[in-house]
Amino acid sequence: MSAPRPATAAEGEAEDSYESVAGLYDLIAAAQGESAPPRISAFAELAQPGMRVVDVGAGTGRVALAVGARDANVWCVEPSASMRSALLSKLAQRPALWPHVTVTAGQAPGMGLDGRFDYAYLAGSLQFLDAADRRATFAELSDHLAPGAILALDMVDDLSVTPDPDGVDTTVAEVRVGRSRYTLRAAVTAAAAGRADIRYRYITECGTHRAVQTMRRTRYFHPFDDVHADLTVAGFTVDTEHNGRWHDSAQPLVARRNV
Ligand SMILES: C[S@@+](CC[C@H](N)C(=O)[O-])C[C@H]1O[C@@H](n2cnc3c(N)ncnc32)[C@H](O)[C@@H]1O
Repeated sequence: MSAPRPATAAEGEAEDSYESVAGLYDLIAAAQGESAPPRISAFAELAQPGMRVVDVGAGTGRVALAVGARDANVWCVEPSASMRSALLSKLAQRPALWPHVTVTAGQAPGMGLDGRFDYAYLAGSLQFLDAADRRATFAELSDHLAPGAILALDMVDDLSVTPDPDGVDTTVAEVRVGRSRYTLRAAVTAAAAGRADIRYRYITECGTHRAVQTMRRTRYFHPFDDVHADLTVAGFTVDTEHNGRWHDSAQPLVARRNV
């Protein structure tokens, strides 16, 4: 087992961009229902009972808990302490899942994985990796996946896209809970080839009460051809039958570790 890269700001790594918004992230995802990325059922249904699974960027565990509920054993790697905390709150309510779900501080690449796995996925987390980290992550997963094991990832893009950095907020989702209204707004504040800086505003309003939590992060774009080439080099074969809809970046792209 190689030593994992540190995941917290205190250890010299990037700040926790999800700090203070983990609960809001979950609430907005719940409001979006089935259309909320990542597509939970599409990732979860690839897990079978007893499988050893790695969730790269587990967040609040929306996919990981569904995988654990299928009696698979999932190792969650997540750099954000606030996202891990939200995941642990959910686990606290579901002791039946405790034997199945391991939560660790870490980030890809350099996850410090221990042992061999049957299935790994990046559900909504590839967007946080640049091209070099994508390649290193595929190589690391290849080293830890058994022959024939599955690798699934979404947010693989049709083409290389560079959005317009107009800084204009658009509403992503809105939900009322009690007398409060929660709104998520997003704007592209800067862009260059293959990447965009995005500002998210989580707004809570109730009468004259108003709170705004802002989160900023970079999203990296991953054209299908580049991802396909990197997977091939890392020892994976893209499952073309499963990927009839690969151009839909919300759907997982599925590959298998070569035997
Ligand atoms: C959009 S969220 C998706 C969370 C989760 N997979 C779900 O089912 O909702 C992306 C997650 O990736 C995490 N992340 C960011 N950079 C990462 C990295 N280098 N390695 C692993 N996870 C990372 C973020 O902290 C965040 O929790």
